[in-house]
Amino acid sequence: MRNDFETALHFRHACKLFDDTKQISPEDLTFILEAGRLSPSSFGMEQWHFFLIRDTAMREAIRAIAWNQPQITTASELVAVAYRKTVRSSDAYIQNEFEKFHYPDGLRQLYTSWIDPHSDETLECWSSRQVYIAGGNMMTAAASIGIDSCPIEGFDREAAEKIMGIDTSLYGVPFLIPFGYRVQEQQPRHRSDLNDLITLL
Ligand SMILES: Cc1cc2nc3c(=O)[nH]c(=O)nc-3n(C[C@H](O)[C@H](O)[C@H](O)COP(=O)(O)O)c2cc1C
Repeated sequence: MRNDFETALHFRHACKLFDDTKQISPEDLTFILEAGRLSPSSFGMEQWHFFLIRDTAMREAIRAIAWNQPQITTASELVAVAYRKTVRSSDAYIQNEFEKFHYPDGLRQLYTSWIDPHSDETLECWSSRQVYIAGGNMMTAAASIGIDSCPIEGFDREAAEKIMGIDTSLYGVPFLIPFGYRVQEQQPRHRSDLNDLITLL
């Protein structure tokens, strides 16, 4: 299991070009999305939402505002990882989330006192941070079954949200993840030595 995980970590890389003749099976896609769904999130509020972009014209339009990155149109699946903006305790989405817990009253109280005093900007930032965890898990899960990915922040977010036609009072899209199969060999990794990343206190 440990070796399998390590293999997946080494297999995963930021894939720049996908084989556009190869499709991810529905079962494999579900496996990847499940890794997102089962990810940890602050207060367990599942701040994410996943938009699967299959419309060809929409993909081309997004590529045009994303540095013309070919991953966007060559990948089998393109997932826009969104965060929720309605994360105050009074919002219907959060009210519904509270009900999933066995101890909703204590949680509601803690959440209200801890989250609600923050500005909209701070809460957006907090919410968006959660979805990066889901994105990371989805990419590693994909790698574990031989599927490539590439996190993409290089796009005009406002334009992409407009092209997607999403309600921006509810969602923001900080990054995209194309999933598919590589056509090029993986480049050598540039990583610091582990010892340089650790400080003992
Ligand atoms: C949040 C985030 C945004 C990124 N945006 C892009 C992007 O727009 N285009 C791209 O080709 N790579 C993008 N990358 C990939 C990084 O450049 C890549 O992960 C890094 O160079 C390390 O390479 P590796 O993932 O192959 O190990 C992004 C990575 C992260 C984590």
